[in-house]
Amino acid sequence: MTTDQRRVTRGTVADAFAARYGEAPPLVARAPGRVNLIGEHTDYNDGFVLPMAIDRAAWLAFRPRVDQRVVIEALDFDNTTEFDLGDLPRDPAGPHGEGWAEYARGVAWAFGEAGHTLTRGLDGVVAGDVPVGAGLSSSAALELAVARAFATTSELPWDPTAAALLSQRAENAWVGVNSGIMDQFIAAKGRAGHALLIDCRSLDSRLVPIPDSVAVVVLDTATRRGLVDSAYNERRQACERAAAYFGVKALRDVTSDDLAARGDGLDPVTRKRARHVITEDARTLAAADALERGDVAALGALMDASHASLRDDFEVSRPELDAIVRLARAHHACLGARMTGAGFGGCGVALVERAQADDFAATVAAAYEAEVRLRPAVYVCAASDGAAIAPAA
Ligand code: GLA
Repeated sequence: MTTDQRRVTRGTVADAFAARYGEAPPLVARAPGRVNLIGEHTDYNDGFVLPMAIDRAAWLAFRPRVDQRVVIEALDFDNTTEFDLGDLPRDPAGPHGEGWAEYARGVAWAFGEAGHTLTRGLDGVVAGDVPVGAGLSSSAALELAVARAFATTSELPWDPTAAALLSQRAENAWVGVNSGIMDQFIAAKGRAGHALLIDCRSLDSRLVPIPDSVAVVVLDTATRRGLVDSAYNERRQACERAAAYFGVKALRDVTSDDLAARGDGLDPVTRKRARHVITEDARTLAAADALERGDVAALGALMDASHASLRDDFEVSRPELDAIVRLARAHHACLGARMTGAGFGGCGVALVERAQADDFAATVAAAYEAEVRLRPAVYVCAASDGAAIAPAA
């Protein structure tokens, strides 16, 4: 399997829009994918996450229509979807499945559900370079690009947190994927040069600058998640069981001391799942503090520990992820590495001394291909801004 390294820019969708509609698009929305530095499977436990938005994104060139029709062409899938804003049901009556068009329809539906009226449709062309199924949140990027466009055409004020929540609602209730809030939140609120510590209970967040001395490197194993929905839901249920056992709303409210004192009453698997979440929350808070102090060595060590916990306690890694993380750490410029995203395939993430990042990428890619016989994609990511209307070229 090879990995798609095609890049998409404003020009990609602007040119396709001009070819289709015979004029330059008056507006282009952009929303990024994300890589999570640490805080995995904690968001749906009301816990903490530390992702950054990346320089790979969904781009949507569009013009408002006078009627309520929505016409969007997806260059990546070579098809066009059309629907009428007035025809969307009140009840989602989902799940509608994960076809790209359902993300667009679901977001339109979720605006109505959140009490907003979308007054005007749009003509649009969308494309993206966040690889699908790689754990870099291509779906949140698409949702937020569409949300940004609808907010603009209907002249609604842009509230990133509200947009993240309604996009998550679209994904949960319309598409039928039971995700937490992390992906949509960072796609809405990311900032260039920064990671974002998110409290997934209060939705407070704190920007943390990423020092210039380090590079964040994505390690795409060229494996794609399979059966992830059922495994993801099963992990969520285990977490809910553990929270119920402790008599709290979510595992966020359980400490390592509580687990040591009373954890024996849980079955061994549920106990391990809970231990991951509880220790990961602590690691994530420590990681944000380390990054803020510029202590990148401490952050790297926490990322290493996160991987071990995801592999051994939460059991969402796979041999190719373990291999690329091990090979990354074998490079002298690597400060720490872990799997990122839901797991079962997709990407790792490494923290690397910037001056050596190119050598790191070439060395790890070659070693992985020699050992695993898959061609990975290993690339430096820049922390980028959240969903916005892109300035004219
Ligand atoms: C997926 C979900 C997120 C989060 C991660 C795991 O990306 O969409 O909400 O739960 O998995 O950390």
